[in-house]
Amino acid sequence: MRQHVNPLSRNFNQIERIPSLREMFDDSKSNLHLDIGCAAGEFLFDLALVNTSWNYLGIEIRQKLVKNAKLKVLEREIKNLYFIFGNANNILNNVQSKFIIKNLKSLSFNFPDPWFKKRHYKRRVIQPEFIEILSNSLQKGTLIFIKTDVKELFDYMDYTISSNFYFKTVDKKDFNYSESFNPNKVKTNREKYAIVNQFDIFERIYIKI
Ligand SMILES: C[S@@+](CC[C@H](N)C(=O)[O-])C[C@H]1O[C@@H](n2cnc3c(N)ncnc32)[C@H](O)[C@@H]1O
Repeated sequence: MRQHVNPLSRNFNQIERIPSLREMFDDSKSNLHLDIGCAAGEFLFDLALVNTSWNYLGIEIRQKLVKNAKLKVLEREIKNLYFIFGNANNILNNVQSKFIIKNLKSLSFNFPDPWFKKRHYKRRVIQPEFIEILSNSLQKGTLIFIKTDVKELFDYMDYTISSNFYFKTVDKKDFNYSESFNPNKVKTNREKYAIVNQFDIFERIYIKI
C-alpha cells in the first residue's frame, strides 16, 4: 500500500457525499470527536469500543484504508464510529461539512505527515487557511489536540495554530483527560512506534475561545 499520497492531487478535489450525523451514528447527540489522518483507524476503534458515550469520526486520504475500516465497522456493528475518505482540507472546506465542524467537541492531528522538503510544505494538513476555517466555524470551547515526533513539524503546527487569535494553549497540568475523547490515554499506532523507539513526542492542546 502507498504510504504517501499527494493531498494536492486533483484526484481529491471531488469529495464523497457526507451523510448526516443521524446516518453516521446511533445517537447523533453524543459528544463528537474527529481524528484527521486516522490511517486504518485502529486508534478510533480502540476508543469507540470503550467510550460508547462519544461518537468518533475519522478522515483519511488513503482510500483502501477507509474502505477496510468501513467494512470492519459494519462487521462489528459499531454504532459510534464513522470514516470519511478524502483530503481533510477539501472535506472540511466544503459546505456539506459545516455541520460536522459546528458539532465537534474536539479534533486531533496525530503524527501528521511531516513533508520535510520546503517545496512540499503546502502538502501539510495544517495550513493557516485551514486553521482559519476552523476558527470561523468551531464552537467556543472546542479542543484541538496535536501530537508528533518531529520537532520541526511541531513548531510549525504550534506557530500556525497559535498565530490565530481564537486559539489559546491549554495548560496540560490543568487538563482533565477523564472528560476528554480519550479518557484512558489510548495511543495511536505511530505513537506506540515512537515510544518503542524512544523518540521524543511533542504535543499540545488548544481551545477555541
Ligand atoms: C504518519 S500517519 C499517522 C497515522 C495515525 N494518525 C497515527 O498516529 O498512527 C499520517 C496519516 O495521515 C494521512 N493524511 C495525510 N494527509 C492527509 C489529508 N490531507 N487528509 C486526510 N488524511 C491525510 C496519511 O495518509 C496517513 O495515514
